[in-house]
Formats: sequence, structure tokens, C-alpha cells
Amino acid sequence: MHLQVSNVCKSFGHGKAAKLVLDNVSFELHSGQFVALVGSSGSGKSTVMRLIAGLESISSGAISIDGQPVTGPGSDRGMVFQKYSLYPWLSAAQNVAFGMELQGRSRTDVRERTSYFLEVVGLADSARCLPRELSGGMQQRIAIARALAAEPKVLLLDEPFGALDIQIRESMQEFLHQLWQRTGLTALLITHDLEEALLLANRVHIMAPNPGRLVRSVEMTLDRAPMAQLRVSPEFLALREDLAQGLRVLEPNLQP
Ligand SMILES: Nc1ncnc2c1ncn2[C@@H]1O[C@H](COP(=O)(O)OP(=O)(O)O)[C@@H](O)[C@H]1O
Ligand SMILES: [Mg+2]
Repeated sequence: MHLQVSNVCKSFGHGKAAKLVLDNVSFELHSGQFVALVGSSGSGKSTVMRLIAGLESISSGAISIDGQPVTGPGSDRGMVFQKYSLYPWLSAAQNVAFGMELQGRSRTDVRERTSYFLEVVGLADSARCLPRELSGGMQQRIAIARALAAEPKVLLLDEPFGALDIQIRESMQEFLHQLWQRTGLTALLITHDLEEALLLANRVHIMAPNPGRLVRSVEMTLDRAPMAQLRVSPEFLALREDLAQGLRVLEPNLQP
């Protein structure tokens, strides 16, 4: 799998009211990679994701998957959003099965894969629960299971843990990291949380607003200690501070 975003510009509105939201954004993602886009609110992260998802059209430039231009939504891209997007009237298992049923898989196949992916996200025991009976973190794990079950080439995660409390957020970060290591999934994570991006991704692109653009790109080469250790290791903290400084320079109005 090769996702290529090349010189993408996006404007909303027309004529004098047109607003350039993305300016010449380029990056790529290969199978097994975990790439994060990090930037403050309004830097165009969700717009990048919606363009890759085919929910919005680009103004100029190109987005392709394995050389094929993206022209609309497709099951080769699995999506997880910040707000729990589960169907409230369906059980956890029915939510996971939903996309696969649309794909026209056989009943047996859907049933087996549903159990498998509930197992993968550690929620086999909650198969019959309705979303409202599950915590926010569990609901997001179901949303991830649902996205993975459709066998996407790439998982697109837009602030997936943004609505969660800090402790749950940290355990979900650990969960996603382990899932990536175990299943070798390919993921694009969008977040405003620099720490989250650095903990999870092997490449981090930093975005700045007005207009939204990539301003820096870092390859994560720090030793992969267990996440709790990595979070507080001097090398990690130094890298995080260095990048945070750079972001503050770009957004002077956020300086104290
Ligand atoms: N459909 C739209 N119409 C007009 N402006 C939009 C639309 N979607 C996003 N924008 C604008 O694009 C900019 C980037 O938004 P977004 O991609 O949501 O940023 P982020 O996800 O980084 O917070 C914002 O200024 C936002 O107001
Ligand atoms: Mg957003």
C-alpha cells in the first residue's frame, strides 16, 4: 500500500470569499507505517483526512492510493472519528458487523470476523452490550474494531481519543500502539496532542495554520521503551520540547 498526498491545496468558498485552508501539502504513507499529523486547531488536519477519505474534493494537487487517484469514499480506507460514531441502537457486535454486511460477506464470515475483531480490541465479553452501556474508551475500541473488520488498506484516525479523560486516553494510546505492533496495521493519526503523536507514530508531520501547511517532519528514532517509560525519558522530553518550541514560534499569539 502506498498513499501519496502530492502538493495538495484546498480552498473553501469562491471568488473574494475563497479561503485557502491547505497550502501545498505533501506526504506519503507506506504499508505498516504509522504516521501522525499534528497541529493546533484550525491547521487543516481534518481537511487532509476528509480529502484522503474522499469526502471532500481537492482544489489542486493529487491524492492516490497505490497509484489510483482518490475520487470518493471507499472501503480501502477505514475511519475513526473523535465523536463516537457507533449506531446507538446496535450492539457492539452488530456495530462491528455492520460494515462487513454492506460489503456483502457471508453470514459465517461476518460472524467469525466480528468475534475475531472484538477479541483483537479486548472486548469479546461486551459483544451484546449497547454503546451506552460501554465507557468512552470501550466505544472507541469498538469503532476501531469496526474500521479494521472491513480490512482497510489504511486506518484514518481523526482525534480518536480527543473526547476521553486523560487516564483513559493514555491507556488507549498504549492499546493502539500494541495493536499496531501486533497487527502491523497502517495508520494515519490526526491529533493536536504532540505527545500523543510522538508516542504513537514512526513519522510525525507538524502542521501550522493560516494557511494549513506542513512545517516540519520528524522520524521517530528513539528506542521504543514501554510507553510509560518513553513518556518521561529525557530524550523524549527533549524532542517534545524542541518541537513544541518550534510550534510556539509559528503561532506567536499562543505565547504566554
Ligand atoms: N466545509 C468548510 N467550509 C469552510 N471552511 C472550512 C470547512 N471545513 C474546514 N474549514 C476551515 O478550514 C480550516 C481548517 O479546518 P480543519 O481541517 O477542521 O482543521 P483542524 O482539524 O486542524 O482543526 C478552518 O479554518 C476551518 O474553519
Ligand atoms: Mg479536526
